[in-house]
Amino acid sequence: MTTFWSTYISVLTIGSLIGLTWLLLGTRKGETKGTTDQTMGHSFDGIEEYDNPLPKWWFWLFVATLVFSVGYLILYPGLGNWKGILPGYEDGWTQTNEWQKEMNKADAKFGPIFAKFAAMPVEEVAKDPQALKMGGRLFASNCAVCHGSDAKGAYGFPNLTDKDWRWGGDPETIKATIMSGRHGVMPAWAEVIGEQGVADVAAFVLTNLDGRSLPKEAKADAANGEKLFATNCVACHGPQGKGTPAMGAPDLTHPTAFIYGSSFAQLQQTIRYGRQGQMPAQEAIQGNDKVHLLAAYVYSLSQDQATQGETLSAK
Ligand code: HEC
Ligand code: HEC
Repeated sequence: MTTFWSTYISVLTIGSLIGLTWLLLGTRKGETKGTTDQTMGHSFDGIEEYDNPLPKWWFWLFVATLVFSVGYLILYPGLGNWKGILPGYEDGWTQTNEWQKEMNKADAKFGPIFAKFAAMPVEEVAKDPQALKMGGRLFASNCAVCHGSDAKGAYGFPNLTDKDWRWGGDPETIKATIMSGRHGVMPAWAEVIGEQGVADVAAFVLTNLDGRSLPKEAKADAANGEKLFATNCVACHGPQGKGTPAMGAPDLTHPTAFIYGSSFAQLQQTIRYGRQGQMPAQEAIQGNDKVHLLAAYVYSLSQDQATQGETLSAK
């Protein structure tokens, strides 16, 4: 804060305190000696104001708040650049410092535990109940907003408990995904293959790749869609539409792999406008050791049923 603003704030605050003290003392009507019958001459809807002094307890309450303010402003930072003289807070008490201190305390306490797990392979960590409990907590506070508290995902956010992986489900890939984030880029096709092309290729995806039938009213040619798929889509989604994890291009052969829906209308929407799924990078926020635990936790979710039960109850 510049000296000008610091002075401005200090003068305003101290001025107000002095003004309030003057108001309190200057308008005081001596000691309370019973009550009086005299009114101030004000009447509001028949309610009249008597000319009595402030009740004692009220007066002293005001005095107490003033004394408190002065004490507070001396101890804590509140007057411009004044840092306060609270013992043990040479740089002044601030919420950020307090938060940082708590974080340092937690790091000192949990750091060695995190470091121990970080030195173990993800698969091993995924078998340790304590690690899964910690990973579960980290997941709940950092990931559940998007992936759900049960990690089963939602529209636009992948399910992390099944075997469908857009980028790969082996421990190291999961860790890389969480560390650096991911950006899935599905181009928009309306301009390239036209509206009819979009309908045709959506019909092909719907019928041939996941074996369902087209809505009766749909005007689309799945055979033409197959040709369009071969020319435009296999580069990313693979010749059988089974996906290419290196590009985050998902498997288009079964409904549970879709995060944007697999109805005829939703498929057309996706193909027409494209999609841009974004998984935010966690390295800078969590650091390697926490991401390691998160990776182990996420990895454990899609392993056999027995481990899965264990992790969910550990949460
Ligand atoms: C440049 C590579 C690329 C090409 C070419 C491509 N896609 Fe995609 N596609 C992707 C990626 C990456 C995603 C995932 C987007 C995301 O996660 O947000 C995706 C997602 C999709 C989805 C949504 C899946 C879901 O999870 O709901 C459909 C459907 C789809 N593509 C169909 C097609 C069709 C049909 C074509 C050809 C007309 C095509 N794609 C061409 C890369 C590609
Ligand atoms: C802001 C929302 C958001 C948050 C927060 C978030 N994610 Fe994601 N995550 C996504 C999206 C969207 C994708 C899909 C990216 C794509 O389209 O390819 C994704 C993808 C993933 C994948 C890859 C899934 C696959 O099929 O390959 C993993 C693993 C993952 N997230 C784990 C996590 C973990 C662990 C956290 C917490 C540290 C987290 N995510 C926090 C949005 C989020």
